[in-house]
Amino acid sequence: MLNVAVLGASGYVGAELTQILAAHPQVSGLQLFHSGEQPGQFPFHHFQARSRGQVAAPVEPFSPEKLSDFTDVVFLCTPHEFAADHTPELLKKAKVVIDLSAGFRFSDASIYQQYYGFTHPNPDLLGKAVYGLPELNADGLNNATLIGCAGCYVTAASLAIAPLSKNGLLKSGTLPIISATSGVSGAGRKAQVSTHFCEVSLTPYGVQNHRHQPEIEKNVGVPVVFQPHLGNYKRGILASVYLFTNNGVTATDIDQALNKAYENQPMVRLLGAGQYPAVQHVENTPFCDLGWRFDEARGQLTVFSALDNLLKGAASQAVQCFNIRFGFDMRTGLLPLEHA
Ligand SMILES: NC(=O)c1ccc[n+]([C@@H]2O[C@H](COP(=O)([O-])OP(=O)(O)OC[C@H]3O[C@@H](n4cnc5c(N)ncnc54)[C@H](OP(=O)(O)O)[C@@H]3O)[C@@H](O)[C@H]2O)c1
Repeated sequence: MLNVAVLGASGYVGAELTQILAAHPQVSGLQLFHSGEQPGQFPFHHFQARSRGQVAAPVEPFSPEKLSDFTDVVFLCTPHEFAADHTPELLKKAKVVIDLSAGFRFSDASIYQQYYGFTHPNPDLLGKAVYGLPELNADGLNNATLIGCAGCYVTAASLAIAPLSKNGLLKSGTLPIISATSGVSGAGRKAQVSTHFCEVSLTPYGVQNHRHQPEIEKNVGVPVVFQPHLGNYKRGILASVYLFTNNGVTATDIDQALNKAYENQPMVRLLGAGQYPAVQHVENTPFCDLGWRFDEARGQLTVFSALDNLLKGAASQAVQCFNIRFGFDMRTGLLPLEHA
């Protein structure tokens, strides 16, 4: 049984993670923290009213000395800069840090300057972090001390493209085009005009410079065009991915590549050719659903990918990594194990 702490438990991702960990059969101790910007200690249901009566631990202002000496794992659901800055001292207290921000997703420190607008304060640690997108990169998770979990759009897009690019099915010289829409929770809980109820409709943002682009490219091994949109709903991402294939690629090649990649991956549900995912079918679930259609004559493939940005795009993905790290079934705390 493990003792875990969640920093950022008052935020959208941290609250989802807290609910999963509070019911996780291998977690015995749970410490919860907020930034301290709002002074005082709060019951968890102050931030997540639907969890009233389900999470006993209070949410306290964070300071490192409050972490129990018996902490096994610290989960970071904080801004990237906080994670990048504080992870070395947290690693002195805990066996493992699992970061859900982008603080440790890249080995190349220059990405932080270029796409995140800060100089990484601990570049030496970047090479030691293991990337947390288990379906594409399980290697090293089982003995990692620092895990940098993948981004939300990144997970949706990479799961759709990687099996195709890795099997050499994509036409060289063409760029996969990813057009994706996220619900407003992708921007976090803090109030701001751009995510205000009356201001949100459906609009592009991050045009040609979104920070998830280099992370997707790192995962799929080819340059991509990535265009995110903000939609007027709470949670969930739908990514439509347009690809061109090499001459001679057949529908069977596509089906086989995707089926082989995910045949033993319970969190990826392949709907198959001609079946399309919907945000409402992945909301509040740990799944990524993939459906596709291939025009063999034109060599044009469209893959649709849907997931819940707060779960498979963040909290449940982190719990998958946690489960792998400690040798538990990847589904523990996320899905009923008997439904294999
Ligand atoms: N939202 C998504 O769909 C999504 C998906 C994947 C990854 N992520 C990443 O996950 C992280 C959290 O995102 P979110 O959407 O949950 O954001 P959020 O709702 O704004 O929550 C941020 C959390 O961080 C805490 N925090 C802020 N500054 C802190 C500090 N200096 N010390 C300690 N705690 C601090 C906040 O505490 P207070 O409440 O006290 O301010 C809050 O609990 C971000 O790095 C984000 O990029 C988000």
